[in-house]
Amino acid sequence: MSFKFFSALLLASSLWACSQNISETPTNTTTAEKDAGVVNLYSSRHYDTDLALYDNFTSQTGIEVNRIEAKADALIERIKSEGEFSPADLLITVDAGVLWRAETAGILQPVSSDILETRVPESFQHPDGLWYGLSKRARVIIYNKDNGKPENLESYKDLANPLHKGKVCMRSSGNIYNISLLASMIANENEEAAQNWAEGVVANFARKPQSNDSGQIEAVASGQCGISIVNTYYLARYARSDEAQKKEIFDSLGIIFPNQDGRGTHVNISGAGVTTHAPNRENAVKFLEYLTSKEAQNYFANGNNEYPVITNANTSSAVETLGTFKEDSLNVSALGKYQADAVKIFDQAGWR
Ligand SMILES: [Fe+2]
Repeated sequence: MSFKFFSALLLASSLWACSQNISETPTNTTTAEKDAGVVNLYSSRHYDTDLALYDNFTSQTGIEVNRIEAKADALIERIKSEGEFSPADLLITVDAGVLWRAETAGILQPVSSDILETRVPESFQHPDGLWYGLSKRARVIIYNKDNGKPENLESYKDLANPLHKGKVCMRSSGNIYNISLLASMIANENEEAAQNWAEGVVANFARKPQSNDSGQIEAVASGQCGISIVNTYYLARYARSDEAQKKEIFDSLGIIFPNQDGRGTHVNISGAGVTTHAPNRENAVKFLEYLTSKEAQNYFANGNNEYPVITNANTSSAVETLGTFKEDSLNVSALGKYQADAVKIFDQAGWR
């Protein structure tokens, strides 16, 4: 063993030991598990159901799962600064726009796997295998049902119709969900169409952009806003809530899956990619493949009330009650590609 390699090992193991202080680690490591090795996850997901998923993987394969949880941008920065000594094997995060940030930071490596390529629909795979989608969410229109369904409200385009002046609430343009939505318009149409849309929506604002998706839901339910757009898993959270008040909020909302007569509703993914210097690459690929298995897909999607990404998952996710819909078949890697253009357009349109 060369000194350089040994030093790298030492550094990697001490980094990993440090990181253990802020992560959860499996306890009962048997000799068999040690032989099977480990997989180190850096994840911006934090759902209890994910833990059951990891335990199940360990009992099936003997591979121990270590994980670190933090916000996506912090994880990307961390993997980047750890460089070739990073103990990270797999980055799990949400939104194709965030996966694109990881890609441009140079922290992901291509993976080709028949299992992944067959199970994950093509529109949810990075063209070079840098990441694979694991669950999906749709960005839908909501309205307050008190005054019935507004006329001329079937597509994202309609949100810019002057008919809805003073009705539309949105979160800020700094939010990745809206950036990805606008990027999908640039990819499907062009910059001019995206610019016109952003300006039209700004002209219809009921208030300055603020709050998160839950904030939009509550503002529409209270009547402060007439219309907004939110990710489906937020709606499912209200729908399945034990709190009567939240159920009431959900019941006051109408939901429209936009663009059903056109290219379909904008969808985005939770996904994962193997890191450039993954010390346990083989185990990371095994783990990715496991996450696309039928049994794992339900757990993974249910963790955040999302839709499974594989088509035959027989999901029982709460989000299914929102209805079926036609989705935009655009490859979600385009959402990253046009991210900078989308940010510029929001800025020019005065959508802050
Ligand atoms: Fe979210």
